Amino acid sequence: MKKNIVVLISGRGSNLKSIINATKETGYPANISLVISDNSKAQGLNIAKDNSIDNIIIEKSSFDSKKKFEDDLVEKITQHNPSLICLAGFMIILSKDFVNKFKGKIINIHPSLLPKHKGLNTHEKAINSGDKYGGCTVHHVNDRMDDGEIIAQQKVIITSDDTADTLKKKVLELEHKLYPKVIRELLS
Ligand code: GRF
Repeated sequence: MKKNIVVLISGRGSNLKSIINATKETGYPANISLVISDNSKAQGLNIAKDNSIDNIIIEKSSFDSKKKFEDDLVEKITQHNPSLICLAGFMIILSKDFVNKFKGKIINIHPSLLPKHKGLNTHEKAINSGDKYGGCTVHHVNDRMDDGEIIAQQKVIITSDDTADTLKKKVLELEHKLYPKVIRELLS
């Protein structure tokens, strides 16, 4: 029996795509039962539609508080009884209350070797810091940005001719392999 996962996005959705592709492999333990975007213009919504995956938009601006926004998220997610909630480019920091409702079940992918370079512009930060390696991290989510316990990392050498753009490309390729692999391992 495949386990349900819910994927939360805000934008392009390339990690969503890599998870969808993995779910089509024989024996993959997860099925994406719902995609939620907090942004009505997220390209990732089209990826969900093209793959006939249930998708909804829940925009923070439609609610008069973050709590009400999160209550709605909780309600929609709970209906699917997911084994994992996977943040894939989801740009909102979730509250302690939210995180506690799904203890141990929320994971995120971040394009740096955490705990280095939290937040945005990670590749620029890695190059400017003279790092030897760039990479990505899948981690448990808590109520602080890019902070929870690290589950897995994948690294790549930063060469002297790398720019933020070339590094971003290399790391994104790693992300697309690492995230589906971690989900497989957690749910198998
Ligand atoms: C990825 O680099 C991910 O690591 C970060 O946001 C980006 C999202 O890209 N959290 P996409 O929407 O999955 O293409």
